[in-house]
Amino acid sequence: MSYNTIIGENPQFRLVIETAAKVAALDTPVLITGESGTGKEMLARFIHENSSRSAKPFIAVNMSAIPDNLLENELFGHVRGAYTDASDDYGGKIAAAEGGTLMLDEIGDMPLMLQTKLLRFLQFKTYEPIGSNEMKTADVRIIAATNKNLFNLLNDGLLREDLYYRLNVVQMKLPALRDRRSDIPVLAGAFIGRCAAHYDKVITGISEEAMQRMCAFDWPGNVRQLENAIERAVVLAEQPEIQLSDFEQIFDGASAETEIIMPLKDAIDGFKKEYITKALQANGWNQGRTAKALDIERTYLNRLIKTLHITKY
Ligand SMILES: Nc1ncnc2c1ncn2[C@@H]1O[C@H](COP(=O)(O)OP(=O)(O)OP(=O)(O)O)[C@@H](O)[C@H]1O
Ligand SMILES: [Mg+2]
Repeated sequence: MSYNTIIGENPQFRLVIETAAKVAALDTPVLITGESGTGKEMLARFIHENSSRSAKPFIAVNMSAIPDNLLENELFGHVRGAYTDASDDYGGKIAAAEGGTLMLDEIGDMPLMLQTKLLRFLQFKTYEPIGSNEMKTADVRIIAATNKNLFNLLNDGLLREDLYYRLNVVQMKLPALRDRRSDIPVLAGAFIGRCAAHYDKVITGISEEAMQRMCAFDWPGNVRQLENAIERAVVLAEQPEIQLSDFEQIFDGASAETEIIMPLKDAIDGFKKEYITKALQANGWNQGRTAKALDIERTYLNRLIKTLHITKY
């Protein structure tokens, strides 16, 4: 996975990606937080693929998706005879990820007893499969993630403090999509391109009305929700341009009025953004030509593009 697959220009988001690229090489544990759908697994993969472990497996296990009584087996494996029906050794995910990276998603849902076992693994690289009294060793980088508030997890005793300190060597927090709204058009554009190709449809863009609603919406399910909404819209679209109606009820209940009364500065910025975007489009996104057409300095245009978060879509 390269920088190009990860979409987003928001400075706070870019900083997370740049930090990830730096820590990728360091082989330390990583702790990723961020609401559901903000890209935690994508970031974990990015770290893996930019590390020296990239040729080895990347495995993600969701602690909340596996019943507590099966999780130990799933992670640490068992030896033959550990249970009545354990007729063979089972390696578990740690062994399967040998040399690579294991992402432990929803770490706060891991039973405390297993958190102790995980801590030991982080400290000594050793663990005991169920029913075994022999230590096994594995060389696996752990990336833990949660969509919960870490402070609450610690406060509620769902995450052991000693494990937290061990995992917290590098902590990365992915911003919610509503806190990086300027990335909505560029994400939408990329998803449209991908979905249109997949469904073999000709889609040229999104109507202005629909785009405005998309940018004003809070997206509680973040990028995943946006991705799904675009996919449905592409499937439903009957015209080359996606219409507000193609989004069905997604924006119902969310106020469409939010944009009507706003500080004058925001209204002016909104106009500038729209006008400059049109000028850029008309000039094939060539900044030199666009600056000339607008009769402004190229450096000033560049600054406006940045401050107004103008993105090509
Ligand atoms: N910046 C981005 N650029 C491109 N695609 C993205 C980006 N962020 C997220 N996605 C896509 O959004 C979807 C959700 O991302 P991901 O599964 O990584 O989120 P998550 O934080 O792990 O979600 P959850 O908490 O629900 O497990 C994926 O299909 C992913 O490819
Ligand atoms: Mg995930």
